[in-house]
Amino acid sequence: MNEFHPLSSTDAYHETTKHSWISVRQHAYTLDWSTQPSTYKRYPVDFPRISLLEENPIKRFLYRVAGITAKKSYPGVEYYLRTNPSAGALYPNEVYFQARGVEGFADGIYHLEVASSSAVLLRSIDESEGLEAALEDSRRRRGLLLFVSGIYWRSSWKYRDRAFRYVLLDAGHLLGSSEAAVLLWKKDYRIRYRIDREGLNRFFGFGREEGMLSAFDLSTPESEEVRLPKGSLRQTDPTGSFEPNEWIEAVYRESGHLQVCHDECRVPQLPFEREAWAEAILRRRSIRQFSRRSISKEELVQILDWAQAPVPSDCDETVELYGVINRVEGMEPGLVKEGEYLKRGDFSNKAGYLCLEQGLGSESAVTFFLVSSGRNYALLYQKAGLIGHRLYLAATVLGIGASGIGAYYDDEVREFLGTEGKILYAFAIGR
Ligand SMILES: Cc1cc2nc3c(=O)[nH]c(=O)nc-3n(C[C@H](O)[C@H](O)[C@H](O)COP(=O)(O)O)c2cc1C
Repeated sequence: MNEFHPLSSTDAYHETTKHSWISVRQHAYTLDWSTQPSTYKRYPVDFPRISLLEENPIKRFLYRVAGITAKKSYPGVEYYLRTNPSAGALYPNEVYFQARGVEGFADGIYHLEVASSSAVLLRSIDESEGLEAALEDSRRRRGLLLFVSGIYWRSSWKYRDRAFRYVLLDAGHLLGSSEAAVLLWKKDYRIRYRIDREGLNRFFGFGREEGMLSAFDLSTPESEEVRLPKGSLRQTDPTGSFEPNEWIEAVYRESGHLQVCHDECRVPQLPFEREAWAEAILRRRSIRQFSRRSISKEELVQILDWAQAPVPSDCDETVELYGVINRVEGMEPGLVKEGEYLKRGDFSNKAGYLCLEQGLGSESAVTFFLVSSGRNYALLYQKAGLIGHRLYLAATVLGIGASGIGAYYDDEVREFLGTEGKILYAFAIGR
């Protein structure tokens, strides 16, 4: 596909990457294991590293954002799972951060190296320069400033054109894991989508395979402005193989032009007990199969209260949550939106079918669909991922299983819900 593809807009991208019963059967694709991209980016060994596995609140915070928490072994394959989930465990994102005036860290720009649970110092900064210059307000800031990038080939290797959706959802989960971790440590945070992506991509020395998506701001502004550090960082291959997808790249570029949205300043309070929350961050996993046991209405209300709390950001749009109630004590089965029944009846088989015939959708207590009619594709998808992360953690605290579901029959879900919005994500919780 070339760059001037007539469908190179986010709407057309969404439209054309919809799954349907027919598309899934017509476009079956065999994975080429010889080109499987690496899920870890590693800078050369001569860059200084700081271990995050030490008792220090900031190191604990950074470890909780994307640390390795489990190892899976199958004959001939071994892989590691992290605090953040990822479609197909392909982890198509990286996290970088700037520390200024942060104990235990020289002022500088770092990469969060998941493979070694360490922070890699990429470049020191002085008081006149910094990544603040890539924010709308380029005043110098003290504290941590995290940046999430996307590396689409890690995901498009398997999911082809639909991969950009997963890159964004997984980025949203990283914003969600950052939020979850910060609530244990510090009160204020803000997600920033209004960033100078091009300036950052140039400074980080990214090739076309990697691009910045958003920032998670934990810093406090001062009065003087700073400029972006001069030059650019040494380029490092993030995948080991690469197959360009010009369409995804065009949609990435277009999704950087933000349209009307509003500033959300409300920062939510953690509604769960701290110890249980800290444990849930490390225990979170995707359930592979439910045993069809129910959850209580009170549990559902607690999970929803957290999932629907405000998401502080510089560009917010509404993401709605529809729930197919399959097994909730004290609630009739049916389709619910914001506490109101849209349809009554047992739709568990329908929900499973809509999630590409996955048992997760039918055997759950509740199968959610996240929907939006907003205009800003990249942030809507990231917000949906963040809400998904809230669902994971609230369910985990309550001893309830959960899984993100990125595969669903888009138009059939819309028809079932009776909405014109885009279906961004599906999600199942249950026992
Ligand atoms: C965006 C997204 C989509 C996912 N879609 C599915 C899905 O359709 N079916 C499924 O069984 N698991 C799905 N998962 C769960 C992943 O397979 C899981 O996160 C990954 O294997 C890592 O395991 P963990 O979540 O236990 O750490 C999805 C996860 C995410 C974040």
